[in-house]
Amino acid sequence: MTRNRTHGECVRLAGELLARMTREEKIGQLTQRCIGDTSGLGNAATGSNNDLHNMIRKGRVGVLLQPALHMKRDVLEAQRVAVEETRLGIPMMTHTDVIHGFDTVFPLPVAAACSFDPSLIRQSCAVGAKEATACGINVTCAPMVDIARDPRWGRIAEGCGEDPFLCAAISEASVRGYQEDGPDPALRMSATLKHFAGYGAGEGGRDYNETQIGGLTMQNVYTVPFKAGIDAGARYVMAGFHSVDGMPVTASRYHLTTLLRGVLGFDGAVISDFTAIRELIQHGVAETPREAALAAFSAGVDIEMMSDCYDSSLESLFADGSLDEASLDAAVLRLLTIKYEVGLMDDPYLFLKREEYTSLDPAHLALAERLADESIVLLKNEGALPVSKGTPAAVCGSRANDRSLLGCWQSSRFAKDVPTLTEGLIAEGLDVIPAPTPEEIRTAPADCVIAFIGEPDSASGEGCSRSDINVTEEDLALLRAAKEAGKKVISVICTGRPMVITQADALSDAVVYAWYLGHRMAASVAGVLTGRVVPSGKLSCSLPRSIGQIPVHYDHLNTGRPRNAQDNDRFTSRYTDGSSEPLYPFGHGLSYAAFTYSPLSLSSPAQGCLPLTVSVEVTNAGSVTAAEAVQLYIRDVSAEIGRPVKELKGFARVTLAPGETRRVSFDLTEKELAYTHPDGTRRADPGRFTLWVGGSSAGGSEGSFILG
Ligand code: GLC
Repeated sequence: MTRNRTHGECVRLAGELLARMTREEKIGQLTQRCIGDTSGLGNAATGSNNDLHNMIRKGRVGVLLQPALHMKRDVLEAQRVAVEETRLGIPMMTHTDVIHGFDTVFPLPVAAACSFDPSLIRQSCAVGAKEATACGINVTCAPMVDIARDPRWGRIAEGCGEDPFLCAAISEASVRGYQEDGPDPALRMSATLKHFAGYGAGEGGRDYNETQIGGLTMQNVYTVPFKAGIDAGARYVMAGFHSVDGMPVTASRYHLTTLLRGVLGFDGAVISDFTAIRELIQHGVAETPREAALAAFSAGVDIEMMSDCYDSSLESLFADGSLDEASLDAAVLRLLTIKYEVGLMDDPYLFLKREEYTSLDPAHLALAERLADESIVLLKNEGALPVSKGTPAAVCGSRANDRSLLGCWQSSRFAKDVPTLTEGLIAEGLDVIPAPTPEEIRTAPADCVIAFIGEPDSASGEGCSRSDINVTEEDLALLRAAKEAGKKVISVICTGRPMVITQADALSDAVVYAWYLGHRMAASVAGVLTGRVVPSGKLSCSLPRSIGQIPVHYDHLNTGRPRNAQDNDRFTSRYTDGSSEPLYPFGHGLSYAAFTYSPLSLSSPAQGCLPLTVSVEVTNAGSVTAAEAVQLYIRDVSAEIGRPVKELKGFARVTLAPGETRRVSFDLTEKELAYTHPDGTRRADPGRFTLWVGGSSAGGSEGSFILG
């Protein structure tokens, strides 16, 4: 990530600067404050920029948080104070949340993950970096790599779904997109992996809630995407708000030092989440800001985001020996090293010189549309799609005329002129007949009904956990009216989370899961509905049949009493009042083509040795060119601990013309088969493995091998 210096040189230079700093100046580097009017931020308020400038002038701010707005002038003024009005003139880094684009908004991460296309996601991150660095920003608080299996949690929208392997691939791609692919070697962002670790496992799907995550699950599920991002060179990790087995991560030396640095090898800076250090008082592990500062710094939090425990207490904690100076030097060295790496120490105004974008770049929009096209998942199609142009279609649903389609966690300056989904259909050439009520649906002169249903994009994101994630009665009433009128019912689900769509699915001839896809959502959805775009998305999350099923995920353990195929054996792990299977599983997604898979062929250098090459012939048996995300799953049948009934260990998107056959091969190595054992070692077990290759986590061509 370093530009014109090696990492070693940056460490050396940072050390030389550190040696010139007073303790007070060192501590001042470890506080992050918000730029701009923060009066609405309660105990995190810095007040006006004036108050902020006074703090900076006293050397008490090392990092700025820019609420993802466009505040380049404010940043410039603040930076000038840091550089020109402090003894050492150390510039500040500027962080913001570039989660799925900056000015150009891309699909929500949970939707983009359905593309199974990390390279395209990487390109979207590079665009986000390109636009944000033109606004003075040099650190993104992304990628969010929290594995999530509970769709009641609103932040499932920001992550990459339920599977560690897919999330790890996207984590690596995102870090490289932000840190390596900028337009100008001098203008690349630092990435922040968040929220370490297990934040998505909050009990009841309630945000910020306690989690119960055992050590092996922490390493075999929740930290897997972090390890991938660390190995890709991420420079920051953000600690989560939550507790694990009662210990708030922000105060957990095991998680932030032993695990994150000792096991996972992270050498960058750890930043708290927003006021999370002060919140240790609420957690009940500190009674004062001083105790909170001691707990967090001892755990390994380098930088405090937005609260003032470090600012108010670290000086006395070091002065009275409660904390040792070496740990202070180590924390400051990590931050200063990053400042050298991003080039700020050579030119503090480096990120403040480029012209901001004054309109959306067509090339960025084209990329956003490509990723949106690939993120849409066709769940069901019983002769209803595609709808040919010119066809009269009655259009209804709560989301049909909403312009707010960008998804949570965006604050683009160009959020006003987003076309609605109805406008997208009109632009695509459908004969749209607005039919907002059941009566109008019944009488509309159209044989098909397109219903845009789901939840507003503001219903997911931070602080948006919901106990009821069913499709609303109002939307269902529209589908019932269409069904009763004997019309073809096409439901398009617009949402930031996996919803319970079981009733809607039963009333529909076709179901398209569109998520929220950013600026080009209307065009992409219309393209899929008319067949201009052939859908290729695969679910990044299982869709529960009911709220009572949650959490439901494909990579569950087998248990000692697994349910049988008929799901009718009472004394097994199942429900007696309904199916125990999700409505649609992870990895599921249909096309307008049809793909067939040959039996597997396996080859290895010698019997039972790795790498094992798993090959299959995939054929497009349909009549249109189409892409398929071919997926490889394994099961470690006889391991030291229970292992999932299926684990994704490879995927490849292939585009095939009608009738075309392609051989797709995956190499399985120790890395894919290894997991963390009770003794802490990460290795593969000898013994039998079952394999599947197919277009979903369900089914597929099956094989097996014995690892020697
Ligand atoms: C938040 C979020 C975190 C974000 C930070 C800065 O509360 O938890 O994901 O990066 O504040 O905006």
